[in-house]
Amino acid sequence: MNRVHIKTYGCQMNERDSEAVAAMLRARGYRIVETEDECDILLLNTCSVRDAAEQKAIGKAGYSLHKKRHNPDFVLGILGCMAQNRGAELLDRLPDVDLIVGTQKFHRVPDYLDNLRAARSAGVPVGQAIIDTAEEAGSQNTIRDHVESAEPQVCAFVSIQQGCNMDCSFCIVPTTRGDERSRPMEDIVRECEEVVEKGAREVTLLGQIVTSYGRRDYPHTGNVTPFVQLLEKVNAIPKLERIRFTSPHPRGFREDLADAFRRLPKLGEYVHLPVQSGSDRILKAMRRPYSRERYLEIVRSLRAAQPGMAFSTDIIVGFPGETEEDFQQTVDLCRQVDFDMAYIFKYSVRSGTPAATLEGQVPDPVREERNRILLEELGKGSLRRAQSLVGTVQEVLVEGPDKTGERFMGRTRGNRATVFEAAPRLVGSLVQVEITRASVSTLYGNLVISGAGLQSPLGAASL
Ligand code: SAH
Ligand code: F3S
Repeated sequence: MNRVHIKTYGCQMNERDSEAVAAMLRARGYRIVETEDECDILLLNTCSVRDAAEQKAIGKAGYSLHKKRHNPDFVLGILGCMAQNRGAELLDRLPDVDLIVGTQKFHRVPDYLDNLRAARSAGVPVGQAIIDTAEEAGSQNTIRDHVESAEPQVCAFVSIQQGCNMDCSFCIVPTTRGDERSRPMEDIVRECEEVVEKGAREVTLLGQIVTSYGRRDYPHTGNVTPFVQLLEKVNAIPKLERIRFTSPHPRGFREDLADAFRRLPKLGEYVHLPVQSGSDRILKAMRRPYSRERYLEIVRSLRAAQPGMAFSTDIIVGFPGETEEDFQQTVDLCRQVDFDMAYIFKYSVRSGTPAATLEGQVPDPVREERNRILLEELGKGSLRRAQSLVGTVQEVLVEGPDKTGERFMGRTRGNRATVFEAAPRLVGSLVQVEITRASVSTLYGNLVISGAGLQSPLGAASL
């Protein structure tokens, strides 16, 4: 009765929170199982950013509660953003849920499960659900445990901050994740060193607005923000090859960060830079504190630092009041930036946010159509950028076998997934790959073996 399956919805932060919960549960003697069918305890780590994400988790919860009919000991827990956003109200729809745990209480999950199990084995009748959605000072420091796996994980994720203090008018995250709180720099660096010791060669620093990291806790030194100070420290870790981060805010891109891409080689040539809209009017209504021109200026400054810089972004279509002309400005901005990739979201009303009550809500078919047009536009641009890499040699960090298990995959410095033939011992190392073919999402190529022949350091025969 101790087999746990955690199903995660939403962003990388949620994935990381789930991993930390899994590690804590393992340390308590719980077994983490890969499939839902094998579990006695199902934990849904939820997302509230769009209504569809909430509905999905509610649907799954409703369905899995049927298990209780056959197995009265079955435990269902709802964790994370939707738990925080809806709390006890979830019981109206899902009266048999056992556990509702918010975003500042992930570390309490093992205790709550222990209590539930102890009560049940003592024959105490199943009472009300345990609900904990309180705030907790210092909770940002509790997401630090990593799951040990048989295969070393080349790419590790490290949480550096929780919450967000911006007030983008469409966004529920400040409600679900609370105030912006940063972890101490030395804790983050130590955690990065630990994951590297265990075999990681890339770390992704995670937070809702990572560029604001530490702004209330550390001084700027010589015009260098605490975030860039952190990047410098992580960059200095031996054996670590790459640093990624997500998500930054355009507001955080001053000269010191552009300069970091010149100075710190492990940053590579890739930035995820959420723009949301290409129209100044809509940006203002979204309460995003930059203009279209400022965004383009940031892109130019980063390409001046690294000419090959690849960008991805988040875009919302159909924000209230978005006209055809506003939308065309977004299409035009996409052409100018030439994004490698974009997450396009149809605006979703989140009750309690300022945008929910704005006039001019855009009808769903229009949102749908704009979504389609933008996807098509971005797909074309992305393919063109991928094809421009054919014939070049790219530095790739080998992550492991590809989906088919026949070849290997890794990513370029510009974050393009790349598939090629290699030897298992190359997992975790940087290799040179000549790109021979490109699709929208994947590059294909061959290892470049330096000094090919008998002296080859790779030993061609072992390939
Ligand atoms: N700072 C976080 C934001 C989390 S929300 C990050 O950048 O990862 C992730 C994305 O979801 C946002 O950038 C935005 O594009 C989208 N989003 C947020 N609220 C939304 C809403 N109400 N409707 C549609 N998309 C939304
Ligand atoms: Fe949301 Fe804006 Fe913060 S998108 S997470 S309020 S920067």
